[in-house]
Amino acid sequence: MKKLLILIVLIFIGIQFVPMDVPADVPSKAEDSIEAPENIQAILKRSCFDCHSNHTTFPWYSSIAPVSWFTKYHVKEGREHMNFSTWASYEDEKKLKFLQKIPKAIKSKMPLPSYLLIHKEAKLSDADKEAVTKWATDAAFDLE
Ligand code: HEC
Repeated sequence: MKKLLILIVLIFIGIQFVPMDVPADVPSKAEDSIEAPENIQAILKRSCFDCHSNHTTFPWYSSIAPVSWFTKYHVKEGREHMNFSTWASYEDEKKLKFLQKIPKAIKSKMPLPSYLLIHKEAKLSDADKEAVTKWATDAAFDLE
């Protein structure tokens, strides 16, 4: 039992040395960021920006493996898929595609459940979901 415990501790220490580059905070201009009414901005910032913007707030434990591996993967993937910080540079077609996907995404899998386990404040209330859905639907309508 004691040996197993020592082994686990050693593995835990060992994995801290796996090289890892955490996605950095990328400077971006405010005017490139998504435009939305203040209440919507606040919801997106609170619940989506950690993965879908260039400005991720990393809690201290996010630099400790294996949490750091998930964090890195989610932020990298999230930004690659849809980045609210570079929204203005997207073609209308792409914006439209995202706006149409957002209501479905927040109904099913966004923010990611594993993220919500740690970030309780990011959970969307029914009112939040309704507001974001209405905003995305209206914004999509304006683009069409
Ligand atoms: C913990 C990180 C994380 C958070 C927080 C998060 N997302 Fe995501 N999101 C991802 C990842 C990773 C993907 C790509 C993989 C997938 O679709 O599951 C994604 C994909 C998406 C997509 C699909 C984009 C495409 O290219 O098809 C939409 C839409 C989306 N997210 C919306 C949101 C919204 C809206 C919020 C906030 C309410 C949010 N996400 C919060 C990580 C996150």
